[in-house]
Amino acid sequence: MELNINGQSVTTEVDPNMPLLWVLRDELNMTGTKFGCGVAACGACTVHINGQAVRSCVMPVSAVAGAKIRTIESLGSPNQQHALQAAWIAEQVPQCGYCQSGMLMAAAALLERKPKPTDADIDEAMTNICRCGTYQRVRAAIHRAAATTAATSGVTA
Ligand code: FES
Ligand code: FES
Repeated sequence: MELNINGQSVTTEVDPNMPLLWVLRDELNMTGTKFGCGVAACGACTVHINGQAVRSCVMPVSAVAGAKIRTIESLGSPNQQHALQAAWIAEQVPQCGYCQSGMLMAAAALLERKPKPTDADIDEAMTNICRCGTYQRVRAAIHRAAATTAATSGVTA
């Protein structure tokens, strides 16, 4: 099966029913995407499929062959942080960290859709569960990233 992951074509021989999460983690060694619940409830496994935030633990890999899959590994790097990653650090969002890659991917999909989200937009889009209760910091960091991006791109509210 051929997959398009982070702009690269990847060939893998797996059961078509295997959830995308396990293809990423176990077959391709891309462990930035996390397993939490396995039933599409927590959001730890969030990736983008054609720009939409999707919970990969319940997504059969056969359903995303030919789609554009984006994972946390492509969001940024220590030397070239995504605005959200810089904001996450500035707001000290992560606590245990377990939910955070899913949070970042959900937030990135939101900002691509709505560059200046309201609190209501954030609450609607960010349904990920955080056992450490970072929700207020997540919200603050999304606003910070939106402001940073607007300032650097000349976008106004
Ligand atoms: S592991 Fe996929 S939503 Fe929890
Ligand atoms: S930071 Fe610990 S679960 Fe969210």
